[in-house]
Amino acid sequence: MAMFKVRVAEILEETSNIKSFRLSRLDGAPFDPYPAGAHIDIVGPTSMVRQYSLCSPPDELDAYVVAVKLEPESRGGSAALHAHVEVGQELEISAPRNLLLIEKGADRHILVAAGIGVTPMISIAYQLHRTGENFEFHYFARSRDEAAFCNLLETRSGFSERVFFHFGRPREEQSDVLERIFSSLSEASHVYTCGPQGFMQVVLERASAVIPHDNVHVEYFQASEPQQAEDDTAFEVELENEIYWVPIGKSIVETLAENGIEVDTSCKEGICGTCIMGVVRGEPDHRDQCMSSSEKQANDQIAACVSRSKSPRLALEFL
Ligand code: FES
Repeated sequence: MAMFKVRVAEILEETSNIKSFRLSRLDGAPFDPYPAGAHIDIVGPTSMVRQYSLCSPPDELDAYVVAVKLEPESRGGSAALHAHVEVGQELEISAPRNLLLIEKGADRHILVAAGIGVTPMISIAYQLHRTGENFEFHYFARSRDEAAFCNLLETRSGFSERVFFHFGRPREEQSDVLERIFSSLSEASHVYTCGPQGFMQVVLERASAVIPHDNVHVEYFQASEPQQAEDDTAFEVELENEIYWVPIGKSIVETLAENGIEVDTSCKEGICGTCIMGVVRGEPDHRDQCMSSSEKQANDQIAACVSRSKSPRLALEFL
């Protein structure tokens, strides 16, 4: 994946453990436009690559803004960005990518964020406001002190009457609140969510009880536990008229790399969508969290870093 250098123009402490980083191009020119909800890869000071959602207005291209929460068990990603990155420093980033696209033609858009999951929802809210769409933004956090961007959400023109804070609600109460929020939705409404896994699971269950499952759009920050290796079987991959054997314990990406074929990757955990390849023949065993259920049912794409095959051979192509 092509990476390029940017300069850290500003760092703000949004909460005691969340910092925002404003990044600008080295030549001072504007960035290319990107769709709301997109994320970028950032190569941190320890060379670790992590994905962060853009939370600046998608039509203000003089800078990209990301917010980084200091994770207690960080192995060098967020901790290094918090501790070792200063204003003026250069960082390497990727171009924005997006799996959380705004659904055209929806009658309402309900944004539901928890914790640092607020970041992609902010750029989506900017876009929905700009285009005059009907939306609500529900933000769950342990407390106001732990919630980033509250002032922005309260004071930005067009946001204040659409933003609802839900502070200090235990998980059982969150479920009831979500049920009330979703009770008035129609089949044409769409829900977008980002936050901890358990929270998003509740959002998914509550929203899917009212609207079609595919109308619920989920942005994962973390991969769920990988499926156990005992479920794996070996299979063949056919690519550009060559056959490759994918053994148990190796991914398609790893197998192809061993044979000199590079597939673009980023997260390598099935959440970012960078490694998606086309499926020409065969039935994938989808194990990613980046494709929707209808995309998985279509069986014409595969996240090659984690997914495997149900059929003895998968014929793939680069997209
Ligand atoms: S590299 Fe991120 S989904 Fe495969």
